[in-house]
Amino acid sequence: MQKLIIEGERKLGGSIKVHGAKNSALPILAATFLSGKHSVLHNCPRLSDVFAACRILSFLGCRCSREDDTVIIDSSQPTCAEVPDGLMREMRSSIVFLGAILGRLGKCRLSFPGGCELGPRPIDMHLSSLRLMGAQIRESHGVLDCDCSKGLVGTVINLSFPSVGATENIMLAAVLAKGETVIRNAAREPEISDLADYLNACGAKITGQGTGTIRIHGVKALNGAEYTVMPDRIVAATYMGAAAITGSELTLTGVRPSDFDSTTALFEQMGCSVYCYSDKLYISAKKPLKAVKTIRTMPYPGFPTDVQAIAMAVLTQAHGTSVIVENIFESRYKHVDELCRMGADIKAEGRVAIIEGVKRLSGAAVKATDLRGGAALVLAGLAAEGETVISDIKHIDRGYENIESALNSVGARISRVS
Ligand code: EPZ
Repeated sequence: MQKLIIEGERKLGGSIKVHGAKNSALPILAATFLSGKHSVLHNCPRLSDVFAACRILSFLGCRCSREDDTVIIDSSQPTCAEVPDGLMREMRSSIVFLGAILGRLGKCRLSFPGGCELGPRPIDMHLSSLRLMGAQIRESHGVLDCDCSKGLVGTVINLSFPSVGATENIMLAAVLAKGETVIRNAAREPEISDLADYLNACGAKITGQGTGTIRIHGVKALNGAEYTVMPDRIVAATYMGAAAITGSELTLTGVRPSDFDSTTALFEQMGCSVYCYSDKLYISAKKPLKAVKTIRTMPYPGFPTDVQAIAMAVLTQAHGTSVIVENIFESRYKHVDELCRMGADIKAEGRVAIIEGVKRLSGAAVKATDLRGGAALVLAGLAAEGETVISDIKHIDRGYENIESALNSVGARISRVS
């Protein structure tokens, strides 16, 4: 099992290039299955979740190859319509393959995705929406047997919550369905727009992406496409947090600041100076950090749940009391205990966490509990006195391409040991 060893109290300086977005690459990789042609995806991050998605495509009969950050997929020879349990369990978001397989082959068999560190991850909205489009879905012994031999038919779908995954699954199932599908209360995340833009590049007819109402007019067939995945806005937020917690200045390149206004606003509320350009951002945290009264995680364009742990780590060093309300996931505070082991003063009760700023964190042996919680521990380690050792870093590698190299390139001192 690998660990990260972080030497704390080092200032950072310089520039980091932010890689492509995991949460866009995953649904777009699933979407490449729909066309039965070649697709070329640039800016595809080298992450364990992306490798897992490519393994699922290979299992389905696709040919996948990678050259640097470009992935080439040939989905012309599908050999099966199922995703085995082992592959499903590797990555919870593999449920997004359901819409693509069903949309292309008219049937699909996959096991229920496991829950994850963020608590139960229900898929009721995914299944009820696909059933509304005519899919027969039987759930037994942890396996989903789906069939729509007569083909899926477009309809109006009202989501009770703007679920990112459910919105993606409906889009993937609808692009080759008969007639028009309208998604109301759709997720508005930039990754949804990225998926729609890739599908439209393949010849789909999708409008309204980025708003609460998305319309998909079914087409007979799709082509492949060459497409560049959007930058990862959560990784960008993480490196902004690294600058903030160490009182440093950083430039981030390859970013799209317009995707994360609410995150930028939070760092400015903490007292950081942030200058945004079309594809780069400069953050300076030379002044002492200020606490932020209340932060509520909300669906996009609200403050993202994926930045909650990052913000919490930074706020442990702010002057005063901050309150976070986690409205999206029911248990996304597993990183609190680990931050407290490093001397943070945080109390979490249900969806609310209260953070009292402390003068200094102290390095300790801690465990990554999930992807963003692990990243929060890296940030805390950068600021802590002494050495921090983080285990279970496989969680971090799911969403960050070589996090230690990126941070070492701007002055951190992090080593990866087995
Ligand atoms: C996506 O997860 C992201 N993952 C998550 O990022 C992100 O935190 C989340 O959206 C919210 O922005 C990927 O894109 C791969 P949801 P997803 O469906 O699609 C409940 C990361 O750190 N719900 O919007 O699973 C659900 O339990 C990851 O990169 C139902 O109840 O999120 C959750 O409480 C973590 N029934 C809430 O809705 C359903 O059918 C939001 O889920 C679907 C969801």
